[in-house]
Amino acid sequence: NAAEKGGYEHFMLKEIFEQPKAVHDTIHPRIKDNSIVIDELNMSEEDIKGIKKIFIIACGSAYHTGVTGKYVIEDLARIPVEVDLASEFRYRNPILEEGTMAIIISQSGETADSLAALREAQAQGIKVLGIVNVVGSSIAREADNVMYTWAGPEIAVATTKAYSTQLSALYILALHFASVRGKITDDELSTMIHELELLPKKIQSILDNKENIQKFATRFVAAKDIFFLGRGIDYATALEGSLKLKEISYIHSEAYAAGELKHGTISLIEEGTLVTAILTQEDLYKKMISNVVEVQTRGAYVLSITNEGNTECEKSTDLIFYIPNTDKHFTTSLAVIPLQLLSYYVSIGKGCDVDKPRNLAKSVTVE
Ligand code: G6P
Repeated sequence: NAAEKGGYEHFMLKEIFEQPKAVHDTIHPRIKDNSIVIDELNMSEEDIKGIKKIFIIACGSAYHTGVTGKYVIEDLARIPVEVDLASEFRYRNPILEEGTMAIIISQSGETADSLAALREAQAQGIKVLGIVNVVGSSIAREADNVMYTWAGPEIAVATTKAYSTQLSALYILALHFASVRGKITDDELSTMIHELELLPKKIQSILDNKENIQKFATRFVAAKDIFFLGRGIDYATALEGSLKLKEISYIHSEAYAAGELKHGTISLIEEGTLVTAILTQEDLYKKMISNVVEVQTRGAYVLSITNEGNTECEKSTDLIFYIPNTDKHFTTSLAVIPLQLLSYYVSIGKGCDVDKPRNLAKSVTVE
């Protein structure tokens, strides 16, 4: 067992550190001569131009990659995207008109609700693309098209590297659709491809800094509640940061779109409440900083995760963690890394069973 962990204390930490390779392995085979080539995608240019709407359907962390995917696909390819929890989609009598495409995201390829959602879409005559990690799994076999995420086997219940590769697959797909539909220029495409190729190195540089996050974790161990705030893509990242933390540390946490604060959450902020703010979207910095000030004024203790160079943030935060700059569409891939590490260190700080949290299963194959 110790050998399987490759010298790491837990599978989760090992898998966190495997992310640069997993992301590289997922992106690299789909980049050829400065363009995106998805060999396994059996869709003609006409098919891609004809997409009127995309449903992204998944559970858990895979659903969170779908939320990021919505922002990225809508902004780059200008296709409307609806993100749905598989357990809701399957019983909702969804409206799937002609020109709708369904994307099911699943690490295991065996999640019961996700598989049922796939079958529901197909029964209504909709083609399904699976973004799946386990080769030959049920969702991979039944989907009309499959894009594999090359994360390799993931053992820890809390997903890290599979989640990261799902994001990569969605970026690849968004860029492909955007370029086929003429929504981005060749220059823009090549700049973004270059940024994709740099992601593994940038993830590695955050991992090399893990002691900084470990330091912050000591502050979080005794917390009763932790709030995660973000706007736009950072809201999607906040959802995952919050789920990761609660899964393995059993600390109650919630993610909020920062603009929603004043509609309820702010009443929960009192002296010493911990808030993690994510600020990677330059056009939203000002709005986010004013939300951070709002919670600080009410006594919150704030950790901000932001891009290198956004020193403006320092005035209004207690702790700060800088992530490398990248294209604004890809920031989830970097901002999530300190959040994974934070959850990991808080969990072991509390003496929890980090690889096998209570009541949770790696794959939920029964309803
Ligand atoms: C379980 C796992 C999560 C995962 C979710 C969906 O809850 O603990 O980490 O995100 O299932 O699993 P899937 O295999 O479909 O990605």
